[in-house]
Amino acid sequence: MELRHLRYFVAVAEEQNFTRAAERLHIAQPPLSRQIQQLEEDLGVVLFERGSRPLKLTEAGRFFYAHALQLLAQTAELRSMTQRVGQKERTMSIGFVASTLYGLLPKIIRRFRAEYSMVELSLHEMTTMEQIKALKEGKIDVGFGRIRHEDPNVRRIVLREERLMAALPFGHPLTLSKPVLTLQDLLAETLIIFPKFPRPSFADQVLAGFHDRALEPQKIMEVRELQIALGLVAAGEGISIIPSSVHGLKRDDVSYMELDEQHLVSPIIMSIRMLDQSEDLKALLSLIYKIYEAENIKYTKESW
Ligand code: BEZ
Repeated sequence: MELRHLRYFVAVAEEQNFTRAAERLHIAQPPLSRQIQQLEEDLGVVLFERGSRPLKLTEAGRFFYAHALQLLAQTAELRSMTQRVGQKERTMSIGFVASTLYGLLPKIIRRFRAEYSMVELSLHEMTTMEQIKALKEGKIDVGFGRIRHEDPNVRRIVLREERLMAALPFGHPLTLSKPVLTLQDLLAETLIIFPKFPRPSFADQVLAGFHDRALEPQKIMEVRELQIALGLVAAGEGISIIPSSVHGLKRDDVSYMELDEQHLVSPIIMSIRMLDQSEDLKALLSLIYKIYEAENIKYTKESW
């Protein structure tokens, strides 16, 4: 069985007619019919119900169709991924979720630009799920996100597990009563979570933090992004849970409080194409580890 057979089969299955499928494939009808016959002989199963008009798939045909679509999509991904890996210019396109901008991303980019000036960098804000798609389409070379998504074509490297903090309106009684809070302390407040779309997102990591401790926030408000959440906190609408690096974003009207919750974390994940052995990506990862070490940040080292 060859890829050609899959493409021919999918065209016939979708057009439900040999003449239209042959037109779509720009081939004559007799060779198309022969190829489908060959495929059925090779598999030893009937894929189309005999004599049906329009053509109908058998149960085995439907099964084969679903898998053929997956294989064809994978070959299209393989083509764009390989073309990207094989490009001649030294460019690196980086996808990142907005919250990593408050962490070490700006420093990493500045250092990489200084040390590897021959590599042309471009930065693109996108969700973790958009990064996975863009990696497979060859549109980016590396993504920095927070969601643990499995994909056979993507290698995930968890860089570190970032602790979370609470953001409260300046002068809120909880900021005056205790030096450190727990999630339990926050239950009476409106919990402002972000981003509202797409899901799963950082918002679900925060909600899971409550649910894992058998806690139910009384009121939840979902907003588009971190800046909106902080603005509403400042306005006294509620409190928010944020990655601890965000506390560098100084605001006079918001107090950031530590949470006494060891396992309340959000990962920072580097995603690259599976089996990509690019020396520039390898250099980027070593530079990230070097910065963690210099800044005394706890991280998990993965061998390249
Ligand atoms: C970090 O804050 O650890 C980080 C952010 C973006 C890329 C890599 C690391």
